[in-house]
Amino acid sequence: MSSIVVIGAQWGDEGKGKVVDYLAQKADAVVRYSGGSNAGHTVVVHDVPYKLRLLPSGILYHGKICILGNGVVINPGVVLQEIKEMHDKGVDISRIAISDRAHVVLPYHQRLDELQEEALGKAKIGTTKGGIGPCYMDKVARVGIRVCDLMDPEVFAEKLAINVKAKNDIITKIYGGEPFDYDAMLKEYLAYAEELRPYVTDTGVILDEIFASGKKVLFEGAQATFLDIDHGTYPYVTSSNPTAGNASTGSGVGPRFIDHVLGVVKAYTTRVGAGPFVTELHDTDGPGHQIRETGHEYGTVTGRPRRCGWLDAFMLKYSARLNSLDGLAITRLDVLDQMPRIKMCVGYKIDGVEIKQIPASLKTLSKVEPVYEEFNGWMTDTSGCRSFEELPAGARKYLNRISEVAGVELAIVSVGPNRDQTIVLKDML
Ligand code: GDP
Ligand code: IMO
Ligand code: MG
Repeated sequence: MSSIVVIGAQWGDEGKGKVVDYLAQKADAVVRYSGGSNAGHTVVVHDVPYKLRLLPSGILYHGKICILGNGVVINPGVVLQEIKEMHDKGVDISRIAISDRAHVVLPYHQRLDELQEEALGKAKIGTTKGGIGPCYMDKVARVGIRVCDLMDPEVFAEKLAINVKAKNDIITKIYGGEPFDYDAMLKEYLAYAEELRPYVTDTGVILDEIFASGKKVLFEGAQATFLDIDHGTYPYVTSSNPTAGNASTGSGVGPRFIDHVLGVVKAYTTRVGAGPFVTELHDTDGPGHQIRETGHEYGTVTGRPRRCGWLDAFMLKYSARLNSLDGLAITRLDVLDQMPRIKMCVGYKIDGVEIKQIPASLKTLSKVEPVYEEFNGWMTDTSGCRSFEELPAGARKYLNRISEVAGVELAIVSVGPNRDQTIVLKDML
C-alpha cells in the first residue's frame, strides 16, 4: 500500500491536473476530496487537451478507479456532462464512484453566489460563480442536500421544498431577485438522480478495500493552500480546505493511510480573483505581461486573465509546513525560458524588518515588502529536456534555490503540458 496527496502550494492552477495524470500511471485509484466545479484541471495527452472540473485526472487511463469523495460538492449537471464527454471520447466511465455523503450544488447556490458577489461591490472575492461557497455554507449550516438525499425522491422532495422556500425568501426579500420554481427544479434534479445512481456509493468503504489489498492511491487536490478557508488569505479564499489534511476527512480515510504529500508549484506565481499578492507584477509590457502571454495565463473555468508575479518561495516554505510536503513538483519552467532576469521572493519585510511568518491580518500583509534574490535567465528552450542534467545550468540553479528556501526536495520538474515533458527526480508512489 502507498498513497500520495497532490496539492496546490500557491493560489491554484499550478498544474495539479498534469502532475496527477502523470502519477496516475502508477496508481490504482485517484480521489478528489475537496472543492467542486470551481476547479479546472487541464490534462494534455499527445497534444489533445482534456478539461476536467469534477472528474479526477486519472480518468484518462484504463482501469483506474476514480472517486469523488464526501468532501467534494457535486453539481450534477456538470459531472454528468463531463461523464458524457468522456464516454463520447471512448473513455471507460464505469470506474467512477461518487460519495453518497457529498453535498449537491443546486441552482439557488449559483444564484446566491452571484448575488453575494454583487452585493460585496468592490470587496468582492472574484469567485467562479459556480455556487460552491453557498453550497458549503448550507453544509456547515446543516441544511444542505447530500447525494444520498438526492437518491431518495421522497427525502429529496421534502428537503428541496424547505430549501427553495428559504432561498427564495433571501433572493426576493434581500436581493430583490426572481424566485425559483420548486416543481421545475424537482423534476430536473430527479432526472439527474437516475443518471447518477449507478455511480453513487460509500466511497470511504471502497477506499478502505483498496488500501487493504495493498493498492496505490493518489489524492488529487483542487484549489490550493492559499485559497484554504482556514490557512489562506481569508476572506479571499474558497469555502473548503484544499490543504493536505483534508485528504483524510474529505475522503473518509484515516490520516495514517497518507504516506506522501507532493506540492505542485509554478516556477512563478499566479492568482485569479481578488486578494493580496505580494509578488504581483503590474506592468503592461514587462515581465508580468511576458509571463501572462507566454504562459497563456487565462483561467480554465472563467477565461479571466490571471494575475502574474514572481515566485514567492517564502509562501512556499509556509505551504511546506502546513501540508507536510515531502516533495515539490515545479511546473511551467519553460514559461521562463526567454526571461533575461528572474526574481524570487525569499523573505518578507515590514518597515524594513524581516518577519518570520506570514501574517494572518490582511492589513498587516498589505504592508509587506518582498525580499528578492535575482537570477540570470537561461534564455534556452527547456521544453525538450528530459533529465535534470539536460536543463541549462541557470535553470538548475533556480530550481535548487526554490527547494532550498522551501526546505523540500525536488520531486518533479515539468517543462511542458504533455506527459513526456516531465522530469522525475524522486519517485514518490
Ligand atoms: P490545475 O488547476 O492546477 O490543474 O492547473 P490548470 O490546468 O488550471 O492550469 C495549468 C495549465 O498549465 C494547464 O493548461 C496545463 O496543461 C499547463 N501545464 C502544466 N504543466 C505545464 C508545464 O510544465 N509547461 C507548460 N507550458 N504548461 C503546463
Ligand atoms: P484549481 O483546482 C484558481 C478562486 C477564485 C476566487 C476564490 C473563490 O483549478 O486550481 P470560489 O468559486 O471557489 O468560491 O472562488 O477562489 N479559485 C481558484 N483559483 N484555481 C482554482 O482551482 C480555483 N478555485 C477557486 O478565483 O478567487
Ligand atoms: Mg485550474
